[in-house]
Amino acid sequence: MRRPFIAGNWKMNKTVDQAVEMVTELKKLVSGVEDVDIAICAPAVNLYPMNEVVADTNIALGAENIYWKESGAYTGELSPAMIKSVGCQYVIIGHSERREIFGENDQLLNLKLKTAFAEDLKPILCIGEKLAEREAGAYFDRVKFQLDAGLSGIEAENVKDMVIAYEPLWAIGTGETATPEQAEEIISFIREKIAKLYDQATAEAIRIQYGGSVKPHNVKEIMAQPNIDGALVGGASLEAESFSKIIKF
Ligand code: PGA
Repeated sequence: MRRPFIAGNWKMNKTVDQAVEMVTELKKLVSGVEDVDIAICAPAVNLYPMNEVVADTNIALGAENIYWKESGAYTGELSPAMIKSVGCQYVIIGHSERREIFGENDQLLNLKLKTAFAEDLKPILCIGEKLAEREAGAYFDRVKFQLDAGLSGIEAENVKDMVIAYEPLWAIGTGETATPEQAEEIISFIREKIAKLYDQATAEAIRIQYGGSVKPHNVKEIMAQPNIDGALVGGASLEAESFSKIIKF
């Protein structure tokens, strides 16, 4: 059985004080939750002080991005070891905003995945199609391409332990959610694709989240789908109250 995994993605939001205040409140609200894995992926400057609050609790931390080199002359970038050293277990790789705004392609994301595994970070690889691809019926091809390129050369033992977040671009921050059936259709396709690329055991083990306008009022029906193991939550993860409701779906 796969454990449900609810992760927040704060994007470029919250100063240190605001971040500490939020996790201090969240910690109280979810202290009794035992059957769901919880993580917050936050801006890098907030991670160290957040870790002071959530170390030894049921809230794990993640970064929103890393660079794929171990160290060196890469001004402005962060290595996986740096992210680990402030208490992170997870890192988001290939969020659609990184792909679209910062031009990250699947080859680069593949290198980032490999570096994350080398440092024992669990990546949350984001994939998903644009509105035009959805409307043209090309969404299966889009995620297939992203998986083939993104996972190239990565071993089954690492894939078992990672997370994939299916996030259709047309549902991110728009208030428009994929229906649970739409999400289940493509997420079960992703799981079949993992079985083809690797084997059935790997496909059964990997956790696949849905992301895109997940809110307290729609999380339950999304989580009721057999292949959906969790959610990657943007806007609704910023407030402790709403995020805790999603965690307690
Ligand atoms: P949203 O963002 O929940 O605000 O739609 C999700 C994401 O971008 O990960």
